[in-house]
Amino acid sequence: MSGNGLDYSALFNKDLPPPAGRWQGHPKYNFIGGHSDPDKVPTEGFIESADRVFHGDPRNISMYNFSGGPQGILPLREFVVDKLGRHRGIETTIDDVLITGGSGQAIELINEILLEPGDTAIVEAFSFSGALGNLRRRGVNVVGINLDGDGMRMDHLAEVLEGLRDKGVRPKYIYTIPTLQNPTGTVLTMERRHQLLALSEQYGVPIFEDECYADLIFEGEYENAIRSMDDTNRVLHIGSFSKTLGPGTRLGYVVAPWEVMSRLLSRKNDAGTGVMDQMIVGDYFNNHYDEHILDVRAALQRKCDVLGSALRESFGPSVEFDVPRGGMYLWVKLPDGVDSRALEGPALREGIAFNPGPDWSADPAAAAGYIRLCFALPSEAEIREGVEKLADVFRREGALP
Ligand SMILES: Cc1ncc(COP(=O)(O)O)c(C=O)c1O
Repeated sequence: MSGNGLDYSALFNKDLPPPAGRWQGHPKYNFIGGHSDPDKVPTEGFIESADRVFHGDPRNISMYNFSGGPQGILPLREFVVDKLGRHRGIETTIDDVLITGGSGQAIELINEILLEPGDTAIVEAFSFSGALGNLRRRGVNVVGINLDGDGMRMDHLAEVLEGLRDKGVRPKYIYTIPTLQNPTGTVLTMERRHQLLALSEQYGVPIFEDECYADLIFEGEYENAIRSMDDTNRVLHIGSFSKTLGPGTRLGYVVAPWEVMSRLLSRKNDAGTGVMDQMIVGDYFNNHYDEHILDVRAALQRKCDVLGSALRESFGPSVEFDVPRGGMYLWVKLPDGVDSRALEGPALREGIAFNPGPDWSADPAAAAGYIRLCFALPSEAEIREGVEKLADVFRREGALP
């Protein structure tokens, strides 16, 4: 019961998720979530951009959806079109781009317009916890496709699609994070991208391509987006500014044809994504994207190396992981029989936070022996120290020899 005597418990919507816990602050050694590198936030650049945009037209702020309407301000949509053309091989126009409150809102909106309880959605067997949670909350049947070092396995996908068709089930979409997959860090080969499009066509199932991490590849040249090879509107493409600038920007985008866009817009009832954020990010990236992204990639690559060496040093050969071609995570396999969830509490008590595997899996039990470590936020010294302490906790708990 609350202080003023009114008891809300009988009033709450019966379908609410369990209540949130109170915020406990960040742990000292923070390897969870998808935070980005605080040293790479371009504060000086933001200040210059803010100065420029605040000397612009005040109607941008005083009106709902002034410059660009409900799809987002024009300079930011123009940046997305230019970036997708130059870096992801996608030819699109500002009419097909919707700026969202993070790509999390993009997932929410796409699910809103496509999914009903009892529907089936195909995902990678290990996948983004937020996307999996969203599907589960909606009562959607989630079917996982196995991954190997080259991303989603097309032989398994073909088998699953055929099996579902035999049962009269047409999945609503195939959700994939093809470029620097979360959590495994894999990159789907070009051959498989073509096969995926062919399967999508054969079974009449759209592809939901989430390229949240694609900008963070360490190399210069890499695989084009699946959307770039699609001239039949079967790929809905989303991306984010959270990993290139920081999740605090709360900006993302969807690329979709008008048939879908018009439905997304009628479902997006937030009266527009925050315009100040859009203006500053739009100005900054229209002027500095290429230099900024090279800097971010180099910093992440260094931290990835530091985490890999720290794990080898402190954990030895008892854990396995592949070094990714980019991104911000290592997906680490623990010795057989170890349950990562049992280690979460003891590690947290020492100030070390990691993500236990089950939340990142279509079949939670199948990922009990994995942890995901994000290396973007902690400093190199914190990575080394945190990993050494984590190995001590694991040893004490009997999880390591
Ligand atoms: C694959 C993937 N998609 C989408 C998101 C949502 O990110 P945001 O809403 O910050 O853009 C995340 C966050 O970590 C993610 O990993």
